[in-house]
Amino acid sequence: MEEKRVKRRIVLVPVPAQGHVTPMMQLGKALHLKGFSITVFQTQYNRVSSSEDFSDFHFLTIPGSLTDSDLKNLGALQFLIKLNQTCEASFKHCLGQLLQEAGDIACVVSDEYMYFTKSASKEFQLPSVIFSTTSATAFVCRSVLAKLNPDKFLIDMNDPEVQDKVFPGLHPLRYKDLPTSAFGPIESILEVYTEVVNIQTASAVIINSASCLESSSLAWLQEELQVPVYPIGPLHLAASACSSLLEEDRSCIEWLNKQKPRSVIYISLGSLALIETKDMLEMAWGLSNSNQPFLWVIRPGSIRASEWTESLPEEFSELVAERGYIVKWAPQVEVLKHPAVGGFWSHCGWNSTLESIGEGVPMICRPFTADQRVNARYLETVWRIGIQLEGELGKESVERAVKRLVMDEEGAEMRERAMDLKEKLNASVRSGGSSCKSLADFVSSLETKSS
Ligand code: UDX
Repeated sequence: MEEKRVKRRIVLVPVPAQGHVTPMMQLGKALHLKGFSITVFQTQYNRVSSSEDFSDFHFLTIPGSLTDSDLKNLGALQFLIKLNQTCEASFKHCLGQLLQEAGDIACVVSDEYMYFTKSASKEFQLPSVIFSTTSATAFVCRSVLAKLNPDKFLIDMNDPEVQDKVFPGLHPLRYKDLPTSAFGPIESILEVYTEVVNIQTASAVIINSASCLESSSLAWLQEELQVPVYPIGPLHLAASACSSLLEEDRSCIEWLNKQKPRSVIYISLGSLALIETKDMLEMAWGLSNSNQPFLWVIRPGSIRASEWTESLPEEFSELVAERGYIVKWAPQVEVLKHPAVGGFWSHCGWNSTLESIGEGVPMICRPFTADQRVNARYLETVWRIGIQLEGELGKESVERAVKRLVMDEEGAEMRERAMDLKEKLNASVRSGGSSCKSLADFVSSLETKSS
């Protein structure tokens, strides 16, 4: 039936960063499978190359948008603010042209951080749909934070005694778990959140999550936001699609094939995290002392003041040759699926979190910034499938965490709970599951609007 529907077009506007591009492209694929034509508006920075998965997609570039060198000079938060200022007029112009050429546009789906799109959607009277690529709980946090008095909040955040207290209304999140350290000063972050959560002109919110993970946060949003909220994730299970911005080194799969079942610790800190040399050395020696095999993704430039791995000591290179493997970028989902993987040391970006739960792999959580602390707290205390490493990183705590996760009974129990969640997540995207139904409801809401 779906194939016969006249193809309507959906416009997608991703944030140009791996953790946002990936779920947006998966969403595009899911909507394409429902019969829509897809146009992706990209900036000049971090463009997705058209792969087999997107051969039918139409890619357009927003002229005048910022470039790689702008990011280097501005830092991530200022880059985002400037991107929103720079793109508003040119996007409006491009969208107007597309409407003239392609006619029927069902809606504009933009990443919540690409808030510049709202005025164009309003001007052309197109439904504006917000896509949140982070968890529902992180969305709740942003909504709560945007309403606070920034001066009072700043005083609280600077008080060391407040850090470990649970934030009122956000149990089990503590002040220190809030997403307030996103690459810039709190004042600027709160300013951005105010824009992000201003959804007055939006017709719906799509979230890459599932009700079996975050039912109370989703219920809170449904009540607060006054527009339909569609939890349709995890999208990598619903519509997997390759949108890696870096080249994947597949040789690590061959290495994994030679390891014992559930013995390997996989380490990856996502596409943005920057680690201090001191912490990297504690990680290295902790891994060494744990005696477990490890697969470590060290992204070039991710260790401060190093090009790649040159700050690792000579003895560690010998250990790597013996029972480790280092790559610049891995096919992460495939790695997590591999039977040799026993645990995932992660920065707890939302995609990595969903990918790990989706494969039933328990985690060591070492969050850096933004929503990662929220996810880490949920992994440890709500889903109970993660061990969080807090405070200063030491080789002893690293060794202990690896052993607890891979060798101890505690780790085996975490894996059992993770496997249970894996089943639930997979069921949610199958026919009849909550996320599958939610996607169908979103699609029929677009059909209702057109009639
Ligand atoms: C960013 C934020 O930091 C994160 O907190 C937010 O939730 C999304 O945006 P990032 O830090 O890159 O994302 O983390 P994450 O969300 O985990 O996304 C990383 C993606 O890169 C994952 O889909 C992962 O599979 C992929 N990846 C990572 C690889 O394909 N190979 C690797 O070697 C490492």
